[in-house]
Amino acid sequence: MNDLFLRACGRQPVERTPVWFMRQAGRFLPQYRALRADRGILELCQTPDLAAEIALMPVRELGVDAAILFSDITIPLLGVGIDLRIDPDVGPVIEDPISSARDAARLRSLEPAEDIPFLGQTIRILRSELDVPLVGFSGAPFTLASYLVEGGPSRSHVRTKALMFGDRVAWGALMDRLTDLVVRYLRYQVAEGVQAVQLFDSWVGALSPDDYAERVLPWSTRIFGALDDAGVPRIHFGVGTGELLELMRDAGADLVGVDWRTPLDRAWQRIGFDVGIQGNLDPAVATAPWEVVERHADDVLARAAGRPGHVFNLGHGVLPETPPGTLRRLVEHVHDRTAAPQPQGAAR
Ligand code: CP3
Repeated sequence: MNDLFLRACGRQPVERTPVWFMRQAGRFLPQYRALRADRGILELCQTPDLAAEIALMPVRELGVDAAILFSDITIPLLGVGIDLRIDPDVGPVIEDPISSARDAARLRSLEPAEDIPFLGQTIRILRSELDVPLVGFSGAPFTLASYLVEGGPSRSHVRTKALMFGDRVAWGALMDRLTDLVVRYLRYQVAEGVQAVQLFDSWVGALSPDDYAERVLPWSTRIFGALDDAGVPRIHFGVGTGELLELMRDAGADLVGVDWRTPLDRAWQRIGFDVGIQGNLDPAVATAPWEVVERHADDVLARAAGRPGHVFNLGHGVLPETPPGTLRRLVEHVHDRTAAPQPQGAAR
């Protein structure tokens, strides 16, 4: 197996920097769009053969060093009976949003083997097919809470913040329940065979450091602590988190994922070189002419400076407009640029 990704996560020496892309299984791939033409995204997630097929597409098409499970952050919510749908170009929409401690108490405990058995099946198919590591994932409590409280995507997260600032008991109850759900969800994925996990706290960049420290960090810390003995690398990712990086590091993951707004070397300094880093090419750059992509990719690599513990990725998910050929070339380029010199006389 190609274990470059796992070795980099463990900050061990690697002969090439590993590359994968958030949202590498998705709409920028024509093969995905073909499967998606007459089926909803949630239906695909719940059909193990198809979900596995989709997760394999970018491994075959792009030559990435890791696969990500094809699922969605809403799947465990669906598992506990939340009435939700995903609207194209909008995102998750929840019919009956949460606004009180009483509503939070509606969130029952997740029993993955009964509630979402299709996920275990997808993982088992993938492990039998893949020759690169499989990354599992979950939304983080704040990001899940944002969808549950807003009822859908939000720019300002104003309802979520109103609950967080206005009703400490309800917020604590909601975060407790979501933390329990995330831990059960991720431990299930590990038990079924995922070889690394990523916690997506995509929208947590909406908070100030003090508010993050007080109202989110304790729960994220609990999640990584509960995975301490799981034996797989843990990645902690958010968008717009330049000022939160030290606090996110304190939550205890093995790698912190950073977006493109913070130069990689500065981000790494902030989290400390004893923790790995993942990122951080601007996804929009991957839609530009190759010369631009190459220049930006080289900049990321120069800032990583060959230190152990760098996993190359975009700073957020692949945009649907991205030409697959550009990502294929990008994977090759990162591999070539970071290739360790072969020992004298070694067979190539
Ligand atoms: O390749 C992969 O990364 C694996 C699959 C994956 C999906 N969702 C499938 C999907 C992953 C890792 C996610 C995580 C996810 N889902 C996050 C965290 C990551 C991030 O982007 O910050 C969030 C916030 C969601 C919620 C969600 N689901 C959104 C915002 C959307 C997009 C809505 C749209 O149409 O633009 C979805 C739908 C979704 N999930 C798609 C995919 C491939 C696209 C929808 C489609 O095919 O219609």
